[in-house]
This record gives sequence, structure tokens and C-alpha cells, in this order.
Amino acid sequence: MKSELAAEINVLKKQRNAVILGHNYMEPALFHSIPDFAGDSLELSRQAAKTEKDIIVFCGVRFMAETAKILNPTRTVLLPAKKAGCSLADGITAEDVRKLRAEYPGVPIVSYINTNADVKAESDIICTSGNAARVVASLKAETVIFLPDEYLAGNVARETGRHIIFPTRGVPRANDGSLDYKLIGWTARCEVHEKFTVEDIRNVRKQFPDVVILAHPECSPEVTAASDFSGSTGTMIKYVEQTKAPRYLLLTECSMGDNIAASHPEKEMLRMCSVRCPHMNEITLEETRDALLKTQYVIEVPEDIRRRALVALERMLSIN
Ligand code: 13P
Ligand code: SF4
Repeated sequence: MKSELAAEINVLKKQRNAVILGHNYMEPALFHSIPDFAGDSLELSRQAAKTEKDIIVFCGVRFMAETAKILNPTRTVLLPAKKAGCSLADGITAEDVRKLRAEYPGVPIVSYINTNADVKAESDIICTSGNAARVVASLKAETVIFLPDEYLAGNVARETGRHIIFPTRGVPRANDGSLDYKLIGWTARCEVHEKFTVEDIRNVRKQFPDVVILAHPECSPEVTAASDFSGSTGTMIKYVEQTKAPRYLLLTECSMGDNIAASHPEKEMLRMCSVRCPHMNEITLEETRDALLKTQYVIEVPEDIRRRALVALERMLSIN
């Protein structure tokens, strides 16, 4: 049904000397027809940084398009929807980060890539779901501030053996009165991944004892602990491609399971599919065609913010 539209976009893409980057959560009709590169946030940042095309059309959400602009400022970066936000990016402000820095002087600040440009500019280094624990370890610091995702921070704490506290909920002391923590978190959550529960996992395992369950690290630490694998969207796809389980369940945005099923019809993908990201869902083939036709919606980042955010992003890219 959508093939003519996809063909029109691919012609426009050539005429405008554009590259289309598609996040793994794009709906199947778009995901399989127009991106030059598809992947997770880390992979798409790398592609954005090195493209020589005049225009980058980012089929993803706003923080991803902003990251592309920060990394490659001489290109025109287009987001095919006016808003396409993210509950994590909306969950913390630059002022919040400045306050934390004043409260914990000298403690390095890691911010998840799912943040606005001004938050990145206040941070020391950025991480993605694909490298969060590695980025924290690379700092070789006793204590680290990790923002803004409560659950990703909890998963990193578990993986790196650190005790985490959330200052907005008070700072508990150990029995001897000392402060006992190695990670300082914030309490934003992904509105999609917070919906998955351990109860869901129990129910699915009861019905399909041989299912392999993969959970994105934006799910709660209890959910990732009860799953068989946790990783970025890109590593989850690789895991399914490179293993031979009777069936898989992905605890993440539903389009990704559909995209894997379309590429690998031999794999059995279970679905719990009331769970789409409303922001990713704003990006459609129609909007992408309009983006190329009307050069909309142009992403701009004020230069002073861009420069500071770039330092934090480049630190991340250099440790990979
Ligand atoms: P990935 O970097 O794993 O693709 O995650 C991005 C995201 O927004 C997940 O909700
Ligand atoms: Fe943000 Fe969650 Fe949507 Fe990812 S799935 S873009 S973290 S709201």
C-alpha cells in the first residue's frame, strides 16, 4: 500500500542529497523502505557524525535529531514531526543538572543520550543504552551522577556493583552514619518501558516455558533481572539474529518485534503489543515525504549549547 510513497521519498532523497537515518522503533513500512542506515541511538549518532550529505532526515525522536545537529552542525537536520519528544528528555532540565553539580561538587555527571541539548551541555559525558556501564567505568570515579533514567541507572548500578541513591527521595545513611552510595540517580522514566512488569514475564513463561525474553535497560531492574538478556535495541536485534531459540519476546517498543519478524520470517516473535512509543509513532512515511518536500522541521541548537554538548558527546564516542 505504501510502496509508491516510499519510492517517491527515495527519489526526493537523491534529488535533495539527503541521508535518512531510521531508529529501530520506526513502523515496518518506513523501517524497511527508506532509511540509508537503521540502528540504535549509538549507531545513528555515529552515522550522523560522519555523513557528507547536505541534509540529514532523522526518522526518530527530537533528542536524536538534536544529537545529529550537535555532531554535524553544517548539515541541515530535519525531524519529520513538529514535536516527537521523549518522556525521559522531558524528565530533567539544565537547571536540575546545575543544582546537582553544586550539591555534589567534583562528582562527574553522565547523562543518557535521551536528554535535551541544554542538559547534555551541563554534563561531562553522554551514554546510550549500548554503553552506559562502560561509560561509568571509564570515569574511574568513586561516585558518579547518572541522569535522568531511574531504571537505566538502577540497571547500571546492578551491573557495576554500585549502590544507588535518588536525592529527590532523600539520602539514606549507613548504620555507622556514613553516606553509603556510589551512584546518584534521578527519577525520570520511559513511559513505554515502565509498563512492563515481572508479572508479565511470569505469565508469558507459564504459557511458553521455552521463550527467550529480552528487555531494554529502560525497563525496571526487576524486569531486566527476570529476563534472559538486556541490551540496546541494536544488541537485542543482533541477539535474536544470532541465536536459535524456539521463540522470543521483546520487552520494548512493539514495532521492533514487527521489524525483526519481517526480516526473519523463520523466527517466532511473541508480542505484547499495546506498547507503542507515542513519540516515535509521530514519524510516518507521509511526514517524511513532507519533510523533504518542505524542508521541515529544521533542528537548530544554539551555538554555545551545541559546543558544550559536543564535548560531552565526543567523550562518549572516543571511548567506543
Ligand atoms: P536505543 O539506543 O537502545 O535504540 O534506545 C533508544 C530509546 O529511546 C529506547 O527507548
Ligand atoms: Fe523516549 Fe521511551 Fe519513546 Fe524511547 S520509547 S523515545 S525512551 S518515550
